[in-house]
Amino acid sequence: MDLRSKKIGFIGAGNMARAIMGALVESKTLHFQNILVSDAQKEALDQVRDIWAIASAPNNAELFNQCDVIVLAVKPQVMPQVLEELAEKALREDGRRRLVVSVAAGVSIAAITKILHRGLKEDAVANLPVVRVMPNTPALVGSGMSAIAGGALAKDDDLEFVQALLRPCGMVLIVDEKEMDAVTAVSGSGPAYVFFLAEVMMEAALSLNLSPEKAKTLVLATVEGAARLLNEGDKTPEQLRRQVTSPGGTTQAAMEVLEARGVRQAFVEAIRAASNRSMELGK
Ligand SMILES: NC(=O)c1ccc[n+]([C@@H]2O[C@H](COP(=O)([O-])OP(=O)(O)OC[C@H]3O[C@@H](n4cnc5c(N)ncnc54)[C@H](OP(=O)(O)O)[C@@H]3O)[C@@H](O)[C@H]2O)c1
Repeated sequence: MDLRSKKIGFIGAGNMARAIMGALVESKTLHFQNILVSDAQKEALDQVRDIWAIASAPNNAELFNQCDVIVLAVKPQVMPQVLEELAEKALREDGRRRLVVSVAAGVSIAAITKILHRGLKEDAVANLPVVRVMPNTPALVGSGMSAIAGGALAKDDDLEFVQALLRPCGMVLIVDEKEMDAVTAVSGSGPAYVFFLAEVMMEAALSLNLSPEKAKTLVLATVEGAARLLNEGDKTPEQLRRQVTSPGGTTQAAMEVLEARGVRQAFVEAIRAASNRSMELGK
C-alpha cells in the first residue's frame, strides 16, 4: 500500500496527533510534504513545523478540502464542533473520496456520520467512510497498541491503509466497533494500570529503605524485563508467575497477600468500570 500517494491531514496537533505524525516522518513511512495539520493553537502548529517541517492549513475545512485522509485528533468534547464546521464549510460533494479516521475515545462512528454525512446524497456519503481508532500512549515511543474498527462504508483497503498509517506507532489490531469499550478499558487505559503497579512497587521499595534512585532502577528494569519475557517467550502470564513462585518462598509470601486482599478481583472490577464508563461517555 502506497501511503505516499495520499495527502494526510490531522485536525488537532496535540499529544496523540504528534505521536502519529512524528512516528510517520521519523520512520520515513511518509514524507513531511504528505502531511498537513490544523489546530486551534498557533503554538501547536509552530511546534510541528519546527520539529518535522509539517505545514499547516488555515482552518479545518481547508485541510479537509486538500486531503485524502483526515485524522480527527481533537478531544471528544470538541468533536461535535469540528464535525459541524466540516459539515457546513468543507467540500463534501466534490467527488473526491476521503477517508476519515477518528482517534477520539468514546465517540462512535454513528455519532460522527450523523453530523458529517448530514444532507449528503448516497454517492457523497459513500465517498466519506469512517474508521475509528483507539490508540494508547506508548505510541509516543513507537510501542503503542492501536485497535481499529471500520464503519459500514469502510472497505478492506481502508482498514489496511489505517493499519499501515499506525504501524510506525506500534501494533495494530482490527476489532468490531462493539468491542471498542472493552478495548478502551484494556489497552487504552491499560498503560495506567502498569504505571500504577510501578508507582506502588516504588513506594514499597522506599518503605524498605531503598533510595529513590535504586527503587526506580529496580522497578523499571523489572517491569521492562517482565514485559519482554511475556512478549518474547511462549509462556502465558500465569505460567511465568508460577515459575517465579517456589513453594514457601518469597514470591509466594507476596502472592498470598495479594490474593487475600482481593487484588485480582479489584483489577477485574476496575477494568469493567473503565469499560462501563466508556459506554456511558459514548452515549
Ligand atoms: N493522549 C492519549 O493518551 C490518548 C489516548 C487515546 C486516545 N486519545 C484521543 O486522542 C484525541 C486527542 O487527544 P490529545 O491528548 O492529543 O489531545 P490534546 O493534546 O488536547 O490535542 C488536541 C488539540 O486539538 C486542538 N483543538 C481544540 N479545538 C480545536 C478545533 N476546533 N480545531 C482544531 N484543533 C482544535 C487543541 O487545542 P486547545 O488546547 O486549544 O484545546 C489541542 O491542541 C482525543 O480525542 C483522545 O480521546 C488520546
